[in-house]
Amino acid sequence: MNAPEELLSIATRVAHEAGAHVLHLIANDTPRADLRAQAGRKSTRTDLVSDADRESEKVIVRRLGELRPHDGVLGEEGARKASRSGVDWIIDPVDGTVNFLYGFASFAISIAAYEKGTALCGVVYDPLRDETYRAASGIGAFCNEHRLEHDGRQAQLAEALVGTGFGYASSRRRAQSELLPTILPQVRDIRRQGAAALDLCYVAAGKLDAYYEAGLQPWDRAAGLVVAAEAGCTQFELDLGHDLESTLVVCRPELERPLGDLLLRAAATRQSLCG
Ligand code: IPD
Ligand code: CA
Repeated sequence: MNAPEELLSIATRVAHEAGAHVLHLIANDTPRADLRAQAGRKSTRTDLVSDADRESEKVIVRRLGELRPHDGVLGEEGARKASRSGVDWIIDPVDGTVNFLYGFASFAISIAAYEKGTALCGVVYDPLRDETYRAASGIGAFCNEHRLEHDGRQAQLAEALVGTGFGYASSRRRAQSELLPTILPQVRDIRRQGAAALDLCYVAAGKLDAYYEAGLQPWDRAAGLVVAAEAGCTQFELDLGHDLESTLVVCRPELERPLGDLLLRAAATRQSLCG
């Protein structure tokens, strides 16, 4: 049985177990600088992997293997397993690794289930705040027991709090920074929280009005997108030019047009100034 609700309850249980494990790793007050010194580098010098990432992924993969032995797995830290049931789990064992390693309170465990590319459920668990964002197709989105849905307010772009993120490759970072001079004067403010999965859930919860980022990996977005979609947010992709080809945008529905136009304007300005 691949019922979304059943998978959601498994994902929630497993995310809570992984979150407890991650909290346990920092419970002994190991200085964050030591955690950083022990961390390894991945794609670039800025892209880090800690013991927490590796151990959290192990916990998740082991538990999913016990509970759903025929399902496939795609994990950020390397877990790969082909599916025999049609269901695939997409895992970010710690989204917000840099925050975790510096003691910034924004990181989360992100787990989603998809069947042949269609989202079934997603869970994003913030263990420090004990907030569980979860959603399954057809049942809606929740933060803990609170249902997430549009609040009925018609937000204006000029008053919108917009989240974004930056990749780890320096060329993409430069491209992302080149959009900001056009965007920042047109919105209330920009937030760079450092955890894409939470950014997506924050749009669902109304803590952000919109979020955009280029170059996200499947594990950064899989679970948060289910939460945002079930909460009634709009999601689409834009090609904003070199290094920003697949820019994901998630926002309150009424911001789709004005934010889309602003991002395209920012891309055109970047193109004319930076070539
Ligand atoms: C990163 C965070 C960050 C986003 C990056 C992601 P990680 O994931 O979500 O906010 O801007 O694009 O790679 O490395 O912390 O799992
Ligand atoms: Ca991660």
